Amino acid sequence: MKRLIIIAKLVFLCAVLVHAQKIENLALTPPMGWNSWNCLRTSITEEKIKSIADAMVSTGMKDAGYEYIVIDDGWMTGERDQDGHIVVDSLKFPNGMKALADYIHSLGLKFGIYSSPGCYTCQKLMGSLGHEQIDANDYAEWGVDFLKYDWCKYPNTMQEAKLTSQTDCRGAFELMRDCLYKTGRPIVLSINERCAGFSKDRSDWVRSVANMHRTSEDIKDNWEQMLHCLETTADLWEIAGPGYWNDPDMLEVGNTVSEKLYGGISDKKMNLPEYQTHFSMWCMVAAPLIAGNDLRYMSDEIIQILTNKEVIAINQDPLGKQGRRIRDDGDLEVWCKKLSGNRKAVALLNRSSEPADMEVSWDELGLKGKLKVRDLWKHQDLGEFKDSFKGEGILPHEALVLLIE
Ligand code: GAL
Repeated sequence: MKRLIIIAKLVFLCAVLVHAQKIENLALTPPMGWNSWNCLRTSITEEKIKSIADAMVSTGMKDAGYEYIVIDDGWMTGERDQDGHIVVDSLKFPNGMKALADYIHSLGLKFGIYSSPGCYTCQKLMGSLGHEQIDANDYAEWGVDFLKYDWCKYPNTMQEAKLTSQTDCRGAFELMRDCLYKTGRPIVLSINERCAGFSKDRSDWVRSVANMHRTSEDIKDNWEQMLHCLETTADLWEIAGPGYWNDPDMLEVGNTVSEKLYGGISDKKMNLPEYQTHFSMWCMVAAPLIAGNDLRYMSDEIIQILTNKEVIAINQDPLGKQGRRIRDDGDLEVWCKKLSGNRKAVALLNRSSEPADMEVSWDELGLKGKLKVRDLWKHQDLGEFKDSFKGEGILPHEALVLLIE
């Protein structure tokens, strides 16, 4: 028996060495969690991250499906020790990364971390270039479950990073994918490939490398920028599916704290209905749901948006289809997401500044007959409708989200 186990282990090791690849059966639905960047920037500490993890549980976010607590840029120093290991910022994280991971795991949550393929991260701290396997091994040892692998200062500066060819860029991400695979730990890989500008060209390879891939520049707590990020995923619907998701960046829902701390654009900050629309559309396009607000300070309204289980179910539907815009009448748009069980989710999105009536026909959804319609924000069955449904008086910047079956 022992011999058999040893042989099986050797076969596995050879398979790993000969054919490094993306880990199977990970991120079968869009990852859900929280990331520190949008609200805390680099002012992260062990205490803050632990209390945010606590809040993920106490506010009902964990029950609603959120699981990853991801620390973004700023956890490391600009140095490596004599054995090549990255030196953690011990002022911010006095007990190191493993202790933090253990705490997060003890709450039934998962732990995510950040790095960049170049010499430095965007914040000029230590990146992974030349030390990819050491870093991957450290992550595995600490208990990391998710890696956000950004694109900054590659190999040395942002300027050089922008000039890197697609091939070299792809190589840098494949290298980390392979290093993670070799650790044997299932770590979700989130990449941000912006070497050649954001384009459709890379859609043939990002799926084979990562579990999620940033499609836009950084989101802001701003209606226009949020829509811009959404737009960048619209044409990429075909490549999304179980194991790979297009990522229009993290959520800004309820992100008021960062504004006070870092001087955001307060006059353009989204209001509650806009936050709700932002959340609805991320669910429609099967985007990862990574909250970016400070979970310790949430109003009831924000909690209700982030934990609406009916809307989240659209995002997490096992079929894994990204929703598509099926009609674009200027500021009035109809989006449709195919769901399991022959059901469809529809968003009637009013981008204009006037209330609007919006109709969707069963024909354009590829459906027929008398169908049940449910409003997923009102949590209300609206009745059975033949041939079409008309949403009346949809408010400016509001999206009516319907389940049709
Ligand atoms: C940017 C990235 C942000 C954040 C930041 C950290 O490149 O888009 O989401 O990670 O770096 O420095």
